Amino acid sequence: MAPGNSVSGPSRQLVFSGCRELYRPSAMDATEFRNFGKAAVDYIADYLENLRDRPVLPSVEPGYLQELIPKVAPQEPEKWQDVLADMERVIMPGVTHWHSPHFHAYYPTANSYPGIVGEMLSAGIGCIGFSWITSPACTELEVAMMDWLGKLIQLPQEFLNCSDGPGGGVIQGSASESTLVGLLAAKQRTVRRVQVLHPEWDEATIKGKLVAYSSDQSNSSIEKAGLLGSMPMRLLPTDDKCRLRGTTLEQAIKSDQEKGLIPCYVVATLGTTGTCAFDCLEELGPICNKEDVWLHVDAAYAGSAFICPEFRHLMAGVNYADSYTFNPHKWMLVNFDCSAMWLKDSQYLVDAFSVDRIYLKHRHQDRAPDYRHWQIPLGRRFRSIKLWMVLRLYGVEGLQQHIRRQVGLAKEFETLLRGDSRFEIVTETSMGLVCFRLKGPDTLTKKLHDRLMARKNIYIIAATFKDKHILRFAVCSRMTESRDIQFAWEEIRGQAEQILLGNDADDDILVHNCKTYSRLKYNMIRNDCPSNGLKINGTANGQA
Ligand SMILES: Cc1ncc(COP(=O)(O)O)c(C=O)c1O
Repeated sequence: MAPGNSVSGPSRQLVFSGCRELYRPSAMDATEFRNFGKAAVDYIADYLENLRDRPVLPSVEPGYLQELIPKVAPQEPEKWQDVLADMERVIMPGVTHWHSPHFHAYYPTANSYPGIVGEMLSAGIGCIGFSWITSPACTELEVAMMDWLGKLIQLPQEFLNCSDGPGGGVIQGSASESTLVGLLAAKQRTVRRVQVLHPEWDEATIKGKLVAYSSDQSNSSIEKAGLLGSMPMRLLPTDDKCRLRGTTLEQAIKSDQEKGLIPCYVVATLGTTGTCAFDCLEELGPICNKEDVWLHVDAAYAGSAFICPEFRHLMAGVNYADSYTFNPHKWMLVNFDCSAMWLKDSQYLVDAFSVDRIYLKHRHQDRAPDYRHWQIPLGRRFRSIKLWMVLRLYGVEGLQQHIRRQVGLAKEFETLLRGDSRFEIVTETSMGLVCFRLKGPDTLTKKLHDRLMARKNIYIIAATFKDKHILRFAVCSRMTESRDIQFAWEEIRGQAEQILLGNDADDDILVHNCKTYSRLKYNMIRNDCPSNGLKINGTANGQA
């Protein structure tokens, strides 16, 4: 209690003794934190170092964890040693090991020692950098890192924070957020433009006419952005290489214009989730620019490869884009979350998202970005520390080596497949992804996948391609080596052999597993159920 706020007599006693009674020293002091922190770092290092020995998929049933922990939070503080020990007892049995060298599902999610330490340091500072004044370093490092990164992939100058114009880069939590943020900025720009042409239309009328486009191969998050942003998202058909072509977009735009609708937003994908296909940006871009339609480029996974000059031709046409995103948290060794987004004109975002209050103002607001205007939440983490750590501790060469190594491992797997005439490769191997199937009816490939899922030695997922059942093999973990590719191949080849020999006797285990899966309520897992239509991430057309 502050001096002067005196409480006398018994009530004072009561307050103080009451405080003493209620007050405990915090659960952990700095000395204990040092010990706990060091033990946790050891635990993480041991976990990652020995990950190859753990089954990549867990064997638990839904609800397993409820049996292992009390129904309510502990009344008394516990010892950190006991809590840390429970990582093995409670948590690890239910972990799908995304960084196992045998994880080949979805796409990679990044994990590196510099990235982990970056997370720790960011948590240690624990600031909420929604404006420059709330932690100048948080904003300024992000501005600088987005420029480092933009220059590294050779984005046109106008996207960079250091350009003279209104362009700039920001770190979002995910590519999904970037797509939604792009859509909202596009909406803002289109409404402003149409208001000039049709002053008699109110904003609601204009918004009701807006339409967005992407391909039927785009990630589920694109369709979701349309839902969240109340803009119909047309998922246009792709060519035989799963690419969205200019003529398809042009026809769709024309058809909507004839109906009195207003094309507003296009999302092109560089590296689709299903087969890692690249939309034809050089065809789409000029159409978007001519029609004044915002072009957003989603390069969530493949975008990391553009740090290597030999892959940069795949981003040709990026100069037409209004916004561009890729996820260093996928393939560039920066732990989740770190989705890099650049805009050619950030003012549309600032206009769309600016809600001011007196407590948010500060006297430097015209001299540095207040990133709260560039994103959906108010609060924001100090994510750029992770990027800074990774860029400095790997260096550009180290990161390029990582990408090239993984592309090389995918080629190695492809070569093994090509050497066995019972398999076919269904799309050109692209980046770290190989799409293949067993020749013959779909049931063979389905059975193969069922068996692999039941055995849990490797984790791969299925998809559909031209109405055929296929398997996707992605090189994901930074710890995957040539011996792991051999291991995966032996596992796949061996199980295929059993199926082709008609040795399906033990396939009832699979039925059991499948029943378990179908009870799971999480989309990602449910869609991986060996017996369902096998979609990635849950959209109807077999694409994520
Ligand atoms: C092409 C593509 N876009 C977007 C996403 C979604 O990424 P995020 O989880 O960062 O929203 C994915 C996820 O795999 C993807 O492959």
